[in-house]
Amino acid sequence: MDVIVVGAGSIGLGCAWRAALAGAAVVVVDPSPERAASRVAAGMLAPAGEAAFGETALLRLNLASWRRWPAFVAELEAATGVSTGYWQCGSLFVARDADDRAALEREHRFRESLGLTVQLLSASECRALEPGLAPSVRGGMLAASDHQVDPRRLLDALRAACAAAGVRFVQGQAALCVHHGRATGVDVDGATALRAGAVVLAAGCWSAHVEGAPRDVLPPVRPVKGQVLRLRASAAQPLLSHVVRGVEHGYIVPRRGGEVVVGSTVEERGFDTSFTARAAYELLRDAHELVPDVLELDIVELCSGLRPGTPDNAPIVGQTALPGLIAATGHYRNGVLLTPVTADAVAAEVSGGEAPAEMAPFSPARFASPVGVGT
Ligand code: GLY
Repeated sequence: MDVIVVGAGSIGLGCAWRAALAGAAVVVVDPSPERAASRVAAGMLAPAGEAAFGETALLRLNLASWRRWPAFVAELEAATGVSTGYWQCGSLFVARDADDRAALEREHRFRESLGLTVQLLSASECRALEPGLAPSVRGGMLAASDHQVDPRRLLDALRAACAAAGVRFVQGQAALCVHHGRATGVDVDGATALRAGAVVLAAGCWSAHVEGAPRDVLPPVRPVKGQVLRLRASAAQPLLSHVVRGVEHGYIVPRRGGEVVVGSTVEERGFDTSFTARAAYELLRDAHELVPDVLELDIVELCSGLRPGTPDNAPIVGQTALPGLIAATGHYRNGVLLTPVTADAVAAEVSGGEAPAEMAPFSPARFASPVGVGT
């Protein structure tokens, strides 16, 4: 076996699929794939919407992955026949009051300075795009280039594509095996020994807690909790035709089949995944301020997941200080968006190809301990 991927979220499966297509024999190991952050994610592919002050290299990476999405989806859907719900729907940021409007004007100037195409809209232009917006809305900003995908369908498609490419799946907890200063494989549940030339650590926020690894090669990821509500509108009478976002963290993501995802909290609560009454109240309150009819929908699910946060909010991808151990984690709020470019970077690493240049700033080396690899 050539490659073991630890983690079966969108990043792990994307890396496994691309590595298998590059000719590697691949095994994916995960104790509970249903806990993946990508199962909770809203699936916004939104480099323009998510652009943040001081994160220019991350924006370049986000754009590099965003450009890959149409071909990635086409190849995935052709290989599996599974529809991913990819939709070039755009995001509409909405101002509830004069302060929000001033904030959106600043955000607009900032995005224009980065060469991103976004458009400031009056209240009536916003309502022409989305008639369900609250009458009090004071204007907005359209990021027409932002897209979305349904992450649960994406996971189904990636699993099917992996299986078709010969990837094997093993359910269990992986502990890293290190021999003569090199990662040589994993032991699963303290029993099954899997050996490989490369181990890819794609276990999201659990990547910092893999047994058997020298502590100072593990990526500094931490869980950042996000609580999300899944609602249902009638497919014949959709709530929205764009992702609608507030000026802070709130968003309402409509899917073509009628699902509506309302997100999200951003909380530092360790590995807690409870869903709280406060979150349900605040998510619905904020969504209702933007789109009142959100309260007419059925509640389908309350769910909560753990984003892999890092000290600089950017992913950690590439060869670690331990030969044979490759990191593919720390994607924080952009794991779904960054799946194609991360998969290409990891496939290049394991097959000796050339990794996307935009990934260079995100090597694990930026967090390397000055004393080097521990024992
Ligand atoms: N990307 C949206 C979120 O993490 O909530």
